Amino acid sequence: MPIVLVSNLAPDAERRWVALLQAAMPEEEIHPAVDFTGDPATVDVVIAANPAPDKLAPFGSIRFVQSLWAGVEHLVHNPALPPAAPLARLVDPNMSQAMAEGVAAHVLALHRDHARFARSQRQRVWSKDPQKLARERTVGFLGTGELARACMRMLQPLGFSLLGWSRHQRAIDGVATFAGSDGLQTMLGGTEILVNLTPLTAATRGLIDARLLAALPKGAMLINVARGGHVVEADLIDALDRGHLAEAVLDVFEIEPLPADHPFWAHPRIQVFPHVAAQTDPASAAKIAAANIRRFRRGETPHDLVDRQRGY
Ligand code: NAP
Ligand code: GLV
Repeated sequence: MPIVLVSNLAPDAERRWVALLQAAMPEEEIHPAVDFTGDPATVDVVIAANPAPDKLAPFGSIRFVQSLWAGVEHLVHNPALPPAAPLARLVDPNMSQAMAEGVAAHVLALHRDHARFARSQRQRVWSKDPQKLARERTVGFLGTGELARACMRMLQPLGFSLLGWSRHQRAIDGVATFAGSDGLQTMLGGTEILVNLTPLTAATRGLIDARLLAALPKGAMLINVARGGHVVEADLIDALDRGHLAEAVLDVFEIEPLPADHPFWAHPRIQVFPHVAAQTDPASAAKIAAANIRRFRRGETPHDLVDRQRGY
């Protein structure tokens, strides 16, 4: 039965992806959705790269979906996916490495006040404050999943004190961990740099609001590399304008690309990145997708299945 790649990519990019996927699983017949002229009812496996929700609608007989993205908020509740169809998300060591490198770069830049020095340079101001060492700085993570743990592993040898909050409290060597709403308040109270790496679900939409930001100490900094929908934008701007929050590094946005007239672009204490913290690595992701589709074809349970009820 044919496999179709359904994506948000331009047609040529979708075709290039299919060439890679086809090379990784020559036994399958894979089509870019943009060129597929066969009977959609014959497609039982879909490979999904963050497609707009309506792009899955033609495929009425889906039995397995392999995502090429780690975050699957556009797929979990898609009405085109039968409730029993397994949905696997991308868990890729190369993506974890990319996220760890990206977050470590942001943490170090915030820790060493790079944004403030850049502002001083623009004003030709020579000013310096006493500096802290990494071991005197606490980084708190919302989420202790695949990507957050990769970031922690990269930050640990630098000496940062690490905290992590998740739904279920998880033991992580060298990291103080928390769960539940009391645990969140405790963690936030001791967090100087907050990194968001939770999935976007009904429970986490709007998590980074006025209440959460107020629980951080004055002068704290935010790195959001998860999804834009976690952040209540007006609350973030208010916390920055009042000086409660010192800096925000934003990689993800409610609307992407970020509209040209959005206030984040020009805010002096916001750094905008175009959703580049950890892009899917085509070569490794194609191999991971192939291995998981083979498992499905053999009747084995695919790896990295999403719990469709809880949303991640
Ligand atoms: P993951 O392995 O599923 O980890 C998710 C973590 O969030 C888990 O620790 C989970 O808690 C926690 N969590 C979920 N819901 C929660 C809640 N309501 N309260 C507290 N904790 C909650 O996911 P991942 O692979 O690390 O990916 C995280 C997210 O990163 C993705 O969903 C995606 O949105 C984003 N992402 C961004 C980029 C980028 O380039 N910017 C790239 C890839 C991924 P439990 O451990 O208790 O289940
Ligand atoms: C990117 O944001 C992903 O979820 O893979």
